Amino acid sequence: MTLPEQGRSRDDVFGQMRERKAADAKWDQGKTFSLIYPTGRDDVDELLMDANALYLYENALNPIRFPSLQQMESEIVAAAGGLLNLPPTGGGTLSSGGSESILMSVLVNRDRAKAERGIEPGKGNIVYPTSAHAAFAKAAHYLELEARPVPIRTDDFTADVDAMADAIDDNTVLVMGSAYGYPHGVMDPIEDLSNLALERNIGFHTDTCVGGFVLPFLEQLGYDVPPYDFRLPGVTNMSSDVHKYGYTTKGVSVILHRQTEWIGNQYFLYSDWPSGIYGTPTVAGARPAAPIAAAWAITQYLGNEGYLELMRSLMATTDKIRAGIEAIEGLEIMGNPIGPLLTFTSTTDAIDTYAVCDLMDDKGWNLDRNTDPNGLHMMISPLHERVADEFLADLRWAVDNHGESRGVEARYN
Ligand SMILES: Cc1ncc(COP(=O)(O)O)c(C=O)c1O
Repeated sequence: MTLPEQGRSRDDVFGQMRERKAADAKWDQGKTFSLIYPTGRDDVDELLMDANALYLYENALNPIRFPSLQQMESEIVAAAGGLLNLPPTGGGTLSSGGSESILMSVLVNRDRAKAERGIEPGKGNIVYPTSAHAAFAKAAHYLELEARPVPIRTDDFTADVDAMADAIDDNTVLVMGSAYGYPHGVMDPIEDLSNLALERNIGFHTDTCVGGFVLPFLEQLGYDVPPYDFRLPGVTNMSSDVHKYGYTTKGVSVILHRQTEWIGNQYFLYSDWPSGIYGTPTVAGARPAAPIAAAWAITQYLGNEGYLELMRSLMATTDKIRAGIEAIEGLEIMGNPIGPLLTFTSTTDAIDTYAVCDLMDDKGWNLDRNTDPNGLHMMISPLHERVADEFLADLRWAVDNHGESRGVEARYN
């Protein structure tokens, strides 16, 4: 398609967008279990739209021109840091999402390892459990580090501490664990893993991209949450995505460092060109302001109490869905998920979870397929409260009525 010769009418343009959008996932009906985290609350949706609109055109590239963006940015970082017990020595920045926060953490640790331990970038490695988000492998690829994925335990899907210890060597620049991980929603043994790193003066990243706005509230609600944040002395860096369970619109994650000065390793500074000093803390040059405004607005609007309230009902919905799945003979929850992320598998050859997923697809539900072993993956959001009964009824029906799998493979995206 080339640029239209003549402009089209607004009705024509929007008509075509709406027509195309009809084929997209029906997340606003609660049919989608990843990618979007809807609260189902009109007041929240309106707030996010208004905040985005107020900052639609601004550019966060230049904090001197737009000091309000810098203020909001530092207050979002402080809010996320406060939830994760970032010490007063620490600091952080925003990034466009979890993958970019992880990239920045790996970069910081690569360059720290060079400065403090003399490890040349091309010689370093990062050690992570195979359940780590793919962004760690991507960061290793971009930053010319060797990726060392270590098989997870087959009984509970958590990181295998002994195997991780064996994989670490003198050239390891970063070890990581997830609290909690994307594939199964289980907590890695962060205390043991971070101690391994601490003993050898290696950086340790706790990935709380998905848990950063979940675990602090579970803890406040009295759930038994194993230690995972900066209260552990070995944890040097963390990532926390506001665009997941912080409920803002896409484009905002926080990268946190135990020592503020490490942020310097994130910065690219350059002045050897005709337009003067260029300095950016992340990959982007020009940066959209709307996501910053939305993230600031939602964190201020909900506050601790608002997040707690959402978390209470979200966990009630999660418990209901979990109990409903466990009540279906032949299905089993995988591992011990701590929050609103569940995967389930089948304990009998009579149930093929991929074939079950085919029938759920036909009914408009978007579940994700897991591998090793096969299972189905769900990130539960507050909106799912409204559809939990219908979902469980359809799941029961799909388990009873499925045939052969159509061969659809597991895809993250
Ligand atoms: C644990 C974990 N880490 C990192 C990421 C990557 O985040 P993003 O998709 O914002 O890049 C995700 C995404 O779901 C995640 O669940």
